[in-house]
Amino acid sequence: MQRIKLLLTATAMAGLLSVGASAGGNADLVKQGEKIFNTKKIGNCLACHAVNGKKINNPGSLGPKLQGLSAWPEQALYDKIYDPYTTNPISAMPPFGKNGVLSDEQIKAVVAYLKTVK
Ligand code: HEC
Repeated sequence: MQRIKLLLTATAMAGLLSVGASAGGNADLVKQGEKIFNTKKIGNCLACHAVNGKKINNPGSLGPKLQGLSAWPEQALYDKIYDPYTTNPISAMPPFGKNGVLSDEQIKAVVAYLKTVK
């Protein structure tokens, strides 16, 4: 009886751990994306964008203040960062994916961050 109880507890704990890990995984991705957004040597998005509801250190204003992005489909955000010219042929925003400045993984992290922007 004692053994069965232990086994059940272990199974329940493993379930809890995996739920915790996936939630933490997304939070980590958001954090990573925020860092890329705000780091001059990586994404440098703050050079052109302020972000609604987020504290950004001395942002530039060549691009619009980012807002309402949580309503954008992830793919649309990905495409915008990968190559803004597909939706705006005269965009002043650099094609971070196409020109290889950001990797697929880095863009996905930035997308996770942008999905938190209301
Ligand atoms: C050199 C300035 C510049 C940089 C750097 C820049 N952007 Fe932009 N961005 C713009 C401009 C200008 C626009 C508006 C024109 C357009 O939509 O293409 C824009 C538009 C956007 C939009 C669409 C906003 C809307 O409401 O339509 C998103 C999302 C965005 N940028 C995200 C980013 C992210 C993420 C980065 C960093 C990886 C970044 N931008 C870096 C200039 C910049």
